[in-house]
Amino acid sequence: MHEWIWTYEGYDPARERLREALCTLGNGYFATRGAAPECTADDTHYPGTYAAGCYNRLTSIVAGRQVENEDMVNLPNWLPLRFRLYRLAGDAAWFTPDSSALAEHRQSLDLRAGTLERTMRYVAEDGRALTVRQLRLVHMADPHLAVLRTQFTAEGWSGDIEVEAALDGGVTNSGVARYRELNGSHLVHVNAGDGEPDTMWLRCRTTTSDIRIGMAARTVADEPTDEERARTAHEPLRAVQFLRLTLPGGVTRTVDKTVALHTSRDAAISDPLHAAVGRVDRAPGFEALLESHRAAWRQLWRRGELDVPGEAGSILRLHLFHVLQTLSPHTADLDVGVPARGLHGEAYRGHIFWDELFVLPYLNLHFPEVSRALLMYRYRRLEQARVLARDAGHIGAMYPWQSGSDGREETQELHLNPRSGRWLPDHSRLQHHVGSAIAYNVWQYCEASGDAEFLHTKGAEMLTQIARFWAGFAQYDKQLERYRIRGVVGPDEYHEAYPGSCLPGLDDNAYTNVTAVWVLARALEVVRELPEPRRRELYERIGLDRGELARWEEVSRRMYVPFHDGVISQFHGYGDLEELDWDGLRARHGDIRRLDRVLEAENDTVNRYQASKQADVLMLGYLFSPAELSGLFRRLGHELDEETWHRTVDYYLKRTSHGSTLSGLVHGWVLARVRREDAWTYVREALEGDIADLQGGTTEEGIHLGAMAGTLDLVQRGLTGMETRGGALWFDPVHSPQLAEYGFSVRYHGHWGVRVRMRPGELHIGVPASDGGPIDVRLPDRTVSVEPGGSRLLMLPDDGHRPSP
Ligand code: BGC
Repeated sequence: MHEWIWTYEGYDPARERLREALCTLGNGYFATRGAAPECTADDTHYPGTYAAGCYNRLTSIVAGRQVENEDMVNLPNWLPLRFRLYRLAGDAAWFTPDSSALAEHRQSLDLRAGTLERTMRYVAEDGRALTVRQLRLVHMADPHLAVLRTQFTAEGWSGDIEVEAALDGGVTNSGVARYRELNGSHLVHVNAGDGEPDTMWLRCRTTTSDIRIGMAARTVADEPTDEERARTAHEPLRAVQFLRLTLPGGVTRTVDKTVALHTSRDAAISDPLHAAVGRVDRAPGFEALLESHRAAWRQLWRRGELDVPGEAGSILRLHLFHVLQTLSPHTADLDVGVPARGLHGEAYRGHIFWDELFVLPYLNLHFPEVSRALLMYRYRRLEQARVLARDAGHIGAMYPWQSGSDGREETQELHLNPRSGRWLPDHSRLQHHVGSAIAYNVWQYCEASGDAEFLHTKGAEMLTQIARFWAGFAQYDKQLERYRIRGVVGPDEYHEAYPGSCLPGLDDNAYTNVTAVWVLARALEVVRELPEPRRRELYERIGLDRGELARWEEVSRRMYVPFHDGVISQFHGYGDLEELDWDGLRARHGDIRRLDRVLEAENDTVNRYQASKQADVLMLGYLFSPAELSGLFRRLGHELDEETWHRTVDYYLKRTSHGSTLSGLVHGWVLARVRREDAWTYVREALEGDIADLQGGTTEEGIHLGAMAGTLDLVQRGLTGMETRGGALWFDPVHSPQLAEYGFSVRYHGHWGVRVRMRPGELHIGVPASDGGPIDVRLPDRTVSVEPGGSRLLMLPDDGHRPSP
């Protein structure tokens, strides 16, 4: 591994799909998996292309039930390009990595340039060797373009080869084995045709969302081709073009396939087909496209500057690469959310969960315009969230656990346990805490960017509607003399019900209750501090009155948070559940991250045990600084001292199976302040989650975007303790022996490129020259002001270790 280049030597069919996911190229508008253009989808290969926000809804019958699912659609495949030796009589076999002709194969992902290179050597049966070098990009400056350059060199022989380039509309959504029983045929009305010389096109539409898709490809060789040597032969579902090239021995011939993609969701087009054909006709040649693409990436890397040494640094760069390919400045022009698995595969059907909670805090400090667009995705679906609340008999906004095109609840009703083969009811939609994650992101975005306009208008509306939901959902319990939130599921989605209960949901998930309190407190703060006439507008718009604010105040001070054995309970009654025999289960099954599946296959249920999928209570230590967390508990009349928090951390650490990539991240973050010696094990797990495919074969179905962005933020905010709060930049660094020295730059309020550098015992801050004001930097023991153009070296007390709440 080179600092910027990830190389995969050799061809390994068993890991090909994983590599495809990790070598995906994209630009925020669309992405294509790093699949071999010589191959179509089969058990080894899965060439998927996905456009952000392009969904379609289909009905399927599973387990005798009719279910509806909305999927991010696998679009026509633009990659196909295969080649073989030309023969006058009879056809030679096409070269593919799966053929015995493959002698060498190497794949390199160049993060700096945003390109994927493949070099291959094929040796035909007659001993003739062909070297092939292939470079591809999905254009970062023009988000509708992609290019595939293929170069052929005959080694020690001269002769012709035949090249077939295609656009393949015969694709389905079939990339996830668990979903194979579901209907995956989203594309209809596929037709193909020719445009200008060298150009072919394909169009189709999605069955129910009626999104029209236009794709065009211009395929040219660097030797003159006449009609006999270049022809099209379209098939019902594929546009196909053939080229015959003469390869003089040792001379390299180049074929460039330039592709344009448009959908009817695009702005400023008449129809997607004409837009795609026009765009590809106008596109410059490969060299010019490569140069403008590299220039766009240079800008992105500047805005995401991160200097972390060693292996961790290389992995973080890969993570940033994939975050930016999913959510780039182009995203700012789209109506899309944060797909949990990137635009890299079909897991979770491209849906949007609470994972943006792990993504926006990073983007806020580098690409605030992208964060804002992602919040606008939620704002546009606020009305739908209100409908969801109303239909369930509540007030305010109840955002769905899984969201897609229009913001309705997209969580599946049944999920398959591949271990038992059983389809089971899925109650994860009871994770109403997603609303608090949205409110948290609104607040964080506004604090980091200083976007008061957003906070005072759309942000305030979302915050207050989510607060209203919590205040209405919480019910007063006379016995406890507290408000309770009942019948929900927390971040640990292994627990969906009390043992033996036929009703889904649990009571008083501590994470849900405390974050609801936080939302109520912030909403009150925003409403009270709104300048006129904004306050009046908000009151009128959402019909707010003083009585309602009084209720928010009351609920936010009297919410119930359960405790047992001197620790915060994950939910009311968690402490009464049985202890799990972790060692016994591990001895029997090995990897038990997916404890839910392991136990269900044994006709048992994880609901019976004190065993969590992922950080749940501990999420509180991830979202809130120790000071803020103890402040929240104090608001509720509890003293959350350091000892209680440490006991709580230890308690759940022993009882968590880490069945989500988010878990290692959160544990690494929290332990960095509580049990430093153990933190790195979890940080490593978060760093390696995708590159080593730690969740047992799930990365091939799409990367884990939350964990990827979260690791970037772990360096940026987790280790530095950086907060953007009350108009100041706060730091409270914690020393990590494994990552003692690092630096990055952030965009804070109007300042671009504020540099932060950590060394043991030192924090260095540099503010670039600008006509903005100074930045207030706060450490636990002092405040300093850094003028634009100035910098400060701040010595840290001890090793920067600070106590927990
Ligand atoms: C996790 C959720 C997460 C989802 C999508 C699940 O495995 O439990 O917390 O939102 O994956 O990434």
